[in-house]
Amino acid sequence: MAKQNPIFTTIGKKTNEIPVEISYKILELFSGGLYSSPTKAIEELVANSFDAFASWVHVLISQDIDSENAIIAVVDDGDSMDIDGLKALWKIGESAKADEQKIDKNKRLPIGKFGIGKLATWVLSRELTHICKQKNKYLAVTMFYSNLDNNKTAENSKLNLDVRNLSKDEAKEALKTLATMNFDLNILFNNNVDSWTVSILSNLKPMVKDLKPGRLEWVLSTAMPLTPDFKSYLNNKEIKPIKLDTKPINKLIIGKNDKVADNLGFISDKNDMLPDEEKFGVTLPTLGRITGFV
Ligand SMILES: Nc1ncnc2c1ncn2[C@@H]1O[C@H](COP(=O)(O)OP(=O)(O)OP(=O)(O)O)[C@@H](O)[C@H]1O
Ligand SMILES: [Mg+2]
Repeated sequence: MAKQNPIFTTIGKKTNEIPVEISYKILELFSGGLYSSPTKAIEELVANSFDAFASWVHVLISQDIDSENAIIAVVDDGDSMDIDGLKALWKIGESAKADEQKIDKNKRLPIGKFGIGKLATWVLSRELTHICKQKNKYLAVTMFYSNLDNNKTAENSKLNLDVRNLSKDEAKEALKTLATMNFDLNILFNNNVDSWTVSILSNLKPMVKDLKPGRLEWVLSTAMPLTPDFKSYLNNKEIKPIKLDTKPINKLIIGKNDKVADNLGFISDKNDMLPDEEKFGVTLPTLGRITGFV
């Protein structure tokens, strides 16, 4: 019997379409190259949560990862997406984050640049669904990667993704699977969170078997920038940034016992009038006096 599509890939009323153009080559790049590790897909989704100014992100992985209904979900309370946001999501190879003008350096420096990160999910899953709440509207879009497979030889696969409008009850229904993973759905539906995004990988590929929770925890604990205003959870357990509880092995201060400067013939000096971190320094012919530590 053919497998039924999971409810979150179908529920709701189609209200719009998003045209997408993907070259199969770009997906193949993911499987062979930089993005081929199973953790990379999840890392990319978490990075997107971070970039959306989320204060928390939950990564949920089905216990029985081999079962055909197993999913991987990434839930965040970030800015989420409206219809234009979803169109931007599926514009391959373009990212508004790269727009220097829009970067507010006082908020967060974005991790994303290229507009392809979400495609790393292709390595792990045959479907990628985004369910978004923004301005009291619930929208859902599913990419069925299998719709691209028939077109392996084409330079570009073109397809349209349905945008579905969901009522609150439908959104709850779509996400009830998260409750079976011990995620408290009240967090999303009790009105304290104005906007949220749930990214769901479903119809998982064999590569998920290589996903080791310990390894994923380590990757997530080292990969995200260290900001106290972004908390991440893996199967409801908080992941502490590893760098925070690691004591430095050594501290090198420029100009203090600085053998590199000595060997290069640069002058090191000490000025007790300056603040601690700048007391020691090295004078470079072109730059002047530099200070700092590693
Ligand atoms: N969780 C999310 N919340 C809000 N917007 C999102 C989220 N995930 C993706 N987006 C939107 O979709 C766009 C595309 O995401 P994608 O990861 O493919 O590219 P990117 O993050 O811009 O760059 P990179 O390829 O370096 O990751 C993002 O620029 C962002 O606008
Ligand atoms: Mg990204």
